[in-house]
Amino acid sequence: MNEAVKEMKNFDVNKVREDFPVLSQEVNGKPLRYLDNAASSQVPTLVIERGAEYLQKEHSNVHRGVHYLSQKATTEYEAAREKVRKFINAKEAAECIFVKGCTDGVNLVANGYGRKFIGEGDEIILSQMEHHSNIVPWQMLAEDVGAKIRVIPMNEAGELIMDEYENMLNERTKMVAVSHISNALGTVLPVKEIIETAHKFGVPVLVDGAQAVPHQRVDVQDLDADFYTFSGHKMFAPTGSGVLYGKREFLEKMRPYQGGGSMIRTVSFDKTTYAPIPEKFEAGTPSIAPAIGLGAAIDYLNSIDLDAAFAYEHELLEYATEKLSALENVKIVGTAKDKASVVSFIIEGVHPHDIGTILDQEGIAIRAGHHCAQPVMDFYEVPATARMSLAFYNTKEDVDTLVNAIQKVIDVFA
Ligand code: ALA
Repeated sequence: MNEAVKEMKNFDVNKVREDFPVLSQEVNGKPLRYLDNAASSQVPTLVIERGAEYLQKEHSNVHRGVHYLSQKATTEYEAAREKVRKFINAKEAAECIFVKGCTDGVNLVANGYGRKFIGEGDEIILSQMEHHSNIVPWQMLAEDVGAKIRVIPMNEAGELIMDEYENMLNERTKMVAVSHISNALGTVLPVKEIIETAHKFGVPVLVDGAQAVPHQRVDVQDLDADFYTFSGHKMFAPTGSGVLYGKREFLEKMRPYQGGGSMIRTVSFDKTTYAPIPEKFEAGTPSIAPAIGLGAAIDYLNSIDLDAAFAYEHELLEYATEKLSALENVKIVGTAKDKASVVSFIIEGVHPHDIGTILDQEGIAIRAGHHCAQPVMDFYEVPATARMSLAFYNTKEDVDTLVNAIQKVIDVFA
């Protein structure tokens, strides 16, 4: 039996669904079909209960008190950091900065690294398929310091043209920032190769891993990523949680992005000295409960057969792709060889928002819009797409219900 099939057999989706209470409700009188996981995933009972327990018994401020509750909150907050370290295989927990989410992580690097090390005439390489969160912070920086943004192009399938990327790197390149998986297309980018090539030119790489961490194993040391950032709310944790991983050598030489309490060693009106990492980048009271929730989400992921879950989800993606491709008038946007979780599509003559609204009446949640990736929409010359995105708790019934409902949309508009 091949490995993927073996993994599928190990995975009991119905059992896993019981862990996510939100999934068992009805919406508009129909069983909920939650297919908007790229926007936000759902939260398992273990994470919900851990959040309640923290608020009922452990809540206090961290790194500030000698009293029991403050010490307990600090211990739990730092334990969550260690869980993150292990989950992404960082060398040290101190290299894992808690942030609000991926957007916060990119802004931290654009400001903390960019404003110190990127200047006039320097170049920052992004890809055509970036989320706005990995475009706008770099544009703001480039505008302020006189740097230039360069864009790795993609082909019609939604795959990066790697030869062009190699030709773009030069002695003026100061940063490469790319997604691991495109939120709008589902393309898995060859980040290991992107990083290896950038490193030949001595250029650091930031990876936006928001869509990768909930769908495949990520090992930051194996990738040799200099920065890797992701959001908790896409990986079964609460909103307001997220991580910026950075190699110590980079984090240490960066300027703190925000000033305030907790990030200092000493303060006088003449001079402030900063705390070591990770505190240097966690000014003010951090999002303690969300971070502990993120730790609980990692506990949850460690408690299931995660490789089997990912293999199952991938099979489901192939099933959905096949079913949707077979529908007349449906065009899939993004047909890369290596994809995860996402199928974006358009129906000739029907606005994606109408698709989303009609599907909602059937209890189906998808996203319709530009997915915060307008350059991708410009490339395909469409204003928006409809997008279904999977997690390992979705089922063939979810996909079949979606496909039947789309057929209805086509019939109504025909
Ligand atoms: N980045 C999120 C999405 O793709 C919000 O929907």
